[in-house]
Order: sequence, then structure tokens, then C-alpha cells
Amino acid sequence: MRNGKVALRTEGVWFAYREPDWILKDVSLACSLRNVMMIMGPSGSGKTTLLKVMAGILRPQRGKVEVLGIEIQRGVSRGLRPAIGYIPQQLGLVRSLTALENVLIGALSRISPGRGLLGLFPGHEVEQARAAMDLMGIGHKAREKVFRLSGGERQRVAIARTLLQHPRLVLADEFVSDLDLPRAAEILTLMRQVAEQEDITFVMNMHEVQLVQEFGDQVLMVSNGQVLHECSAQEVNLDRFTEVVQ
Ligand SMILES: Nc1ncnc2c1ncn2[C@@H]1O[C@H](COP(=O)(O)OP(=O)(O)O)[C@@H](O)[C@H]1O
Ligand SMILES: [Mg+2]
Repeated sequence: MRNGKVALRTEGVWFAYREPDWILKDVSLACSLRNVMMIMGPSGSGKTTLLKVMAGILRPQRGKVEVLGIEIQRGVSRGLRPAIGYIPQQLGLVRSLTALENVLIGALSRISPGRGLLGLFPGHEVEQARAAMDLMGIGHKAREKVFRLSGGERQRVAIARTLLQHPRLVLADEFVSDLDLPRAAEILTLMRQVAEQEDITFVMNMHEVQLVQEFGDQVLMVSNGQVLHECSAQEVNLDRFTEVVQ
């Protein structure tokens, strides 16, 4: 861990979509500020559910979730909401809008209701959106509709949109899993740079061991809704992963 301060903590979290089918069973974890935490585990083990609980999208029946020192298990306050960025596996982009318009959606929490959506963003927000797109290397695609973009470009748009929220914590669900390894590595390199420059903690579900080793700090292995193992990214090895998966 790079420093002692904790960005995200769960204690004894239990979650069921329908009790008593517990999907998360007594999950406790802590992720240090500015770390990249990778969550690994077989399909169906509860990774997406865990991310949603940590984003405040789902409320656990039992246990405690703390983001930046604030308890969120009973809901995320309006003030804290922009600090938590969530990138769903399907990215959640609006395909018929342009890349720039999608990125501006990240600024919505700062726009007063009633201003309407497009064309009404203040100039400084549009500038910020363009800067975030430049940072992600897709400034030249600002006017392109999302449905015309490649998978990697969409990923960059999704990150830029999240950055416009000014998040302190970003939770990303398998968000490079549709890309080939070199492209995934490109995106993760950018993500690490952004994490350092902007002081952001990243937590992501990831199954590529190589990418976990290269881009992660902390690793959490989950299976059947339980944390089986926690280690540093350097300590992850294929054998251990296979053991966990079986
Ligand atoms: N909305 C839902 N309603 C009921 N069960 C769900 C729902 N979403 C996921 N599940 C179940 O929860 C379990 C864990 O799913 P998920 O968190 O998506 O796992 P993972 O991301 O590790 O593949 C699975 O058995 C899945 O069928
Ligand atoms: Mg999932």
C-alpha cells in the first residue's frame, strides 16, 4: 500500500437481491488512498454486486461501507455523490450522442436543474470536457457519435465522463475486458497516470492476470461472495488464481 489512508472500507457486508440467497457474505476490505485495487474472481462470484454496493447503488442488508471516511450503506449524500465514479461493464454511454456530449454528462451534478441538457453547459464545463478528452487521447473524436467509435475509444470516453465528475474514487466493472491486451494496457497506463495526477483511487474488477500484475497495487480474490485472499499485485500468480477459481 502506498500510504496508510483508506479511501474505501467495508466491514462485514452481507448482500442478497432476495434473502436468504446471500450474494455477498461477510465481505471486509480496505483500499488505500490513491491505490489501484483489482478484484478477481470467477464469473458469478459477486464482483459486480460488490462494486455496486461500494458505489452506493445497492444497499447491503448488513455491514458497513465507508467511502472517504463517510458511511454510505444507508445511501450516498448529495455532497458525496460526485466523488464516487462508477463505470458499468457496458459503460453506460448514450450511443446517439457525440463523445463530447457524453463526457459532459459527467458534469450534470453541477448544472442547475432546468438548464436543460445540451447547448446549455457553461463554457468552462465544455472546456473541461475537452481537456478530459485530450487527456484520454480522444480530443479529435469530440464531435463523433458514440456508435461510430471503437471499443477502446468508448472506454476513453467513459473515463473522461467520469473524470468530469471530479471523483475521488472510481469503481470500474471489467471495463477493459472487451479490448485486446495491448489496447487494454494502453487504457490502464492512462488510468494510472490520471490516478496519480488527479489523486484518484481506482477499484476495478479484472480477470487478466498480466494486467492485474502490471497495473494493480492491491488484489482481492473473491469466490462465491467471499473474500478468499488479499495480496499485493506483485504477489499474484496464475497458480494462486487457478486455485481460487476452482
Ligand atoms: N439483479 C439481480 N437480481 C438477482 N440476482 C442477481 C442480480 N444481479 C446478479 N445476480 C446474481 O448474483 C450473483 C453474482 O452476480 P455478479 O455480482 O454479477 O457476479 P460477477 O460480477 O462476479 O460475475 C449471480 O448468481 C447472479 O445471478
Ligand atoms: Mg460482473
